[in-house]
Amino acid sequence: HKTGILGQKLNEGKTKQIFELVDQPGLVLVQSKDQITAGNAVRKDQMEGKAAIANKTTSCVFKLLQEAGIKTAFVKQHSDTAFIAAHCEMIPIEWVCRRVATGSFLKRNPGVKEGYRFSPLKMEMFFKDDANNDPQWSEEQLLEAKFSLAGLSIGQCEVDIMNRSTVAIFEILEKAWATQNCTLVDMKIEFGVNVTTKEVVLADVIDNDSWRLWPAGDRSQQKDKQVYRDLKEVTPEAMQMVKRNFEWVSERVKLLLEPQASGRVVVLMGSTSDMAHCEKIKKACASYGIPCTLRVTSAHKGPDETLRIKAGYEGDGVPTVFVAVAGRSNGLGPVMSGNTAYPVINCPPLTPDWGAQDVWSSLRMPSGLGCSTVLSPEAAAQFAAQIFGLSDHLVWCKLRASMLNTWVSLKLADKKLQACSL
Ligand SMILES: Nc1ncnc2c1ncn2[C@@H]1O[C@H](COP(=O)(O)OP(=O)(O)OP(=O)(O)O)[C@@H](O)[C@H]1O
Ligand SMILES: *[C@@H]1O[C@H](CO)[C@@H](O)[C@H](O)[C@H]1NC(C)=O
Ligand SMILES: *[C@@H]1O[C@H](CO)[C@@H](O)[C@H](O)[C@H]1NC(C)=O
Ligand SMILES: *[C@@H]1O[C@H](CO)[C@@H](O)[C@H](O)[C@H]1NC(C)=O
Ligand SMILES: *[C@@H]1O[C@H](CO)[C@@H](O)[C@H](O)[C@H]1NC(C)=O
Ligand SMILES: *[C@@H]1O[C@H](CO)[C@@H](O)[C@H](O)[C@H]1NC(C)=O
Ligand SMILES: [Mg+2]
Repeated sequence: HKTGILGQKLNEGKTKQIFELVDQPGLVLVQSKDQITAGNAVRKDQMEGKAAIANKTTSCVFKLLQEAGIKTAFVKQHSDTAFIAAHCEMIPIEWVCRRVATGSFLKRNPGVKEGYRFSPLKMEMFFKDDANNDPQWSEEQLLEAKFSLAGLSIGQCEVDIMNRSTVAIFEILEKAWATQNCTLVDMKIEFGVNVTTKEVVLADVIDNDSWRLWPAGDRSQQKDKQVYRDLKEVTPEAMQMVKRNFEWVSERVKLLLEPQASGRVVVLMGSTSDMAHCEKIKKACASYGIPCTLRVTSAHKGPDETLRIKAGYEGDGVPTVFVAVAGRSNGLGPVMSGNTAYPVINCPPLTPDWGAQDVWSSLRMPSGLGCSTVLSPEAAAQFAAQIFGLSDHLVWCKLRASMLNTWVSLKLADKKLQACSL
C-alpha cells in the first residue's frame, strides 16, 4: 500500500529516479539512488548515513519553505529515501545565489578575496549541460534559448520570477540557519514547470550538496567541508571528519522548524460592538502562526480593570503586542501605551461619519507615548508579525514569502492583461 503503484520511469540521473504514480496523476515519486551505489559493508554504512541526512535535509527544508508559503513541487515524504512531488518539466538552469564569495566565484572573478560579502545577494545562473561543464549563462542567453516546458514559454516574466524566488528562498534559509549560528554562504536550486498548473515552482531537491554552510566563528567546521570537497582518496581520518560534519548538519536541520520565541497578540476592544473588526485581526494573526486573545475593556469606563488586565499579561513573561480597538475617542491604546513597555498598536474601527475626526485620538499623543496606528485589521496583525519576526524566524519567513507571492501575482496579472490586449 505504501509504494502506491509505480508507473513508468520518467527520468533517471546520477542520484535520482523519477517514477509516474499510476493512481496519482500529476504526481511523481522521486527516488534517491544513494543505496544502490553502496559497495562493501563499511562503505554501505557510510552511504546509509548520508542518505538519511540527505533525506532529513530535503524534507525539513521543503517543509520550512512550504510552511512559509513558498510554492514547491514537494508534496510529502514517502519513505526513507523517496518523496512524492508534483510532476514537473524541469528548466535546465541551476540558479546560484551567494552571500559570501568563495569557490568557483573566486576563480571566475580574480582579485575578489574569499569572504567578500554580497548585499544585495549575488545571482548567477548556469546552463545544465554536462558535456560542456555547465557553462555560466547571462539572462539574455536564457531568453534567447526560448525554452518551452509543459507548454509554458520561458520568457522575461518567468526569468524574473525565478530570479526573485531564488533570492527569497535564500533569505528564508539564511534566516533559519542563523538561528543555529550558521552562515548560509551560497546555494544552488532548480525550478520546474508544474505540468498540471503550468506554474514555475521550486523543484528537484535541496540537500547536503545544494549549499555551503559555515558555522559562525568555527573555522574548523568550515575546513571539514573543504576537506570533503578536496577529498580524492578516502582515508579513515578524513571520513571521520566528513561524518562529523554531516552529523552536525543533520542534528541541526530539524531545529530550523522550531520557533525561536513564541509571542502573542492581545486585542483589547472597548466594546463587543467591535467584535467583527477584532475577529479579522485574530484571523490574520493565525495566518502568521501567532496566538491571539480577545478581551473587552474600556479605559474610559473601567481604567482599573484595563490596567489589571495589562498587568496579567505583563506578569507571565510571554512577549506581547497589544492591539487597541476603540471607536470614537480611543483612550484605550494611549492609556495602555503610557503604562506598559510592550508595543501597542491602535487599530480604531473608523466610521464614515466621524472617522476623520476620531482618528486624531489615536494620532495626537502626549509626550512619552510610542503607540502606532494602523487602520486595517489585517495590517495591524501584519505589523505585530513584523515585530515578532525580529526574533522568530518562522514568522519572518512567512512575511518574506508573502512579499514574494504578492510580487509574483502582480507580475502574472500584468502578463495576462498584456496577452489579452494583444
Ligand atoms: N518533480 C520532478 N518532476 C520531474 N522531474 C524531476 C523532478 N525533480 C527532479 N527531476 C529530474 O529528475 C532527473 C534525475 O535527477 P538527478 O539529480 O539524479 O539528475 P542528475 O544526474 O543530477 O542530472 P541533472 O544534471 O539533470 O541534475 C533530473 O533530470 C531532475 O531534473
Ligand atoms: C502542482 O500540481 C499539483 C497536482 O498535480 C497540484 O495539486 C498543485 O497545487 C500544483 N501546484 C504546486 C505549486 O505544486
Ligand atoms: C526520512 O524522513 C522521514 C520524514 O522526515 C522520516 O520519517 C524517516 O525516518 C527518514 N529516514 C531516515 C533514514 O532518516
Ligand atoms: C537577477 O535580477 C537582478 C536584479 O534585477 C539582476 O541584477 C541580475 O542580473 C539577475 N540575475 C540573473 C542571473 O539573471
Ligand atoms: C549562538 O551563539 C551565541 C553567542 O555566541 C550563543 O549564546 C548561543 O547559544 C548560540 N546558539 C546556538 C544555537 O548555538
Ligand atoms: C551529499 O549526499 C549525496 C547523496 O545524496 C552524496 O552522494 C554526496 O557525497 C554528499 N555530499 C556532500 C558534500 O555532503
Ligand atoms: Mg541533479
